[in-house]
Amino acid sequence: MEALRHGDGLVSGRRLARALGISRTAVWKHVSALRRSGYGIESVRAKGYRLVDVPETLSSETIDAHRSSKRLGGRIITLDSTTSTNDVVADLARSGAAEGTTVTAELQTAGRGRMGRSWISPAHSNLMMSVLLRPAVPPAIAPRLSLLVALAVMDVVRDEGVDARIKWPNDVVVNDRKLCGILTEIEAEADRVRFVVVGIGLNVNVRASDFPSELRQRATSLRAETGRLVERARVAGRLLSSLERYYQGFLDGDFPALAERWNRYSAMTGRTVQVEGPVRSLRGRCEGIDTDGALLLRTGASVERVIAGDVTVVEGGYER
Ligand code: BTN
Repeated sequence: MEALRHGDGLVSGRRLARALGISRTAVWKHVSALRRSGYGIESVRAKGYRLVDVPETLSSETIDAHRSSKRLGGRIITLDSTTSTNDVVADLARSGAAEGTTVTAELQTAGRGRMGRSWISPAHSNLMMSVLLRPAVPPAIAPRLSLLVALAVMDVVRDEGVDARIKWPNDVVVNDRKLCGILTEIEAEADRVRFVVVGIGLNVNVRASDFPSELRQRATSLRAETGRLVERARVAGRLLSSLERYYQGFLDGDFPALAERWNRYSAMTGRTVQVEGPVRSLRGRCEGIDTDGALLLRTGASVERVIAGDVTVVEGGYER
């Protein structure tokens, strides 16, 4: 890596090979490995390589510098690589970890999304973070927590100058392109939540050109929206602080006020949407969310309440 820091930044493959005492093929392999670790290295044809991006590594200290929360993020573990930060937090929860314990990873080898999908993100570019909550509420109430996480994400991305909206239940989107996904997993007994793991995957510095082609029209990042690199530690610290405020509101029974705020940011209200739920599919005009977090869907004369499902906007002859 050091060999790439040179003059105007452009270093020929031959020069690198000589400096490192390795073949040019080996140089190319090193460059590929560095790219996989998050370094931005441009190849300029017949001229060489240029280092354009150095990954920022998350640490509890850098996150703490931007965090005003008391409980959430009280203990932060920053991992280089793991299967899924949600799994790490769930294991910690089972062995008694305190509420607010937070885990981030630079790379997930088995990152999960909702509905059994996988969550893929290049190393060192984005925020992959899970937070442990232990709310004393019945299991039926716990899914509402996802809506709070979306609100917290909204605060942070709007502070970064991005005009984002929420797609029910908790995707954060910009012009219908996904910026952030949230996976809330609950371990409960019949009448009591043992713990909740809130997993946040926020596209921060991944470039639009780095998305796989099938995602390019459907995903975005803070960098793609603002044209600048965004400090992930700041995003993480502010996110924990904002989440703690909404979580306190939720514990204090203020959910209707939070639902109202959610409705203000809804990306779907007034649009025709298709919902694939666990038991039924419905198509209708979205009328926002109810004071308990259920999606309200007008289908003809009646308004249906949807508790769980996957939503697609079906306006204008295309689906998103
Ligand atoms: C979705 O949109 O389907 C939810 C994606 C959630 C991804 C995050 S990344 C951190 C945490 N660990 C995981 O395995 N998933 C969540």
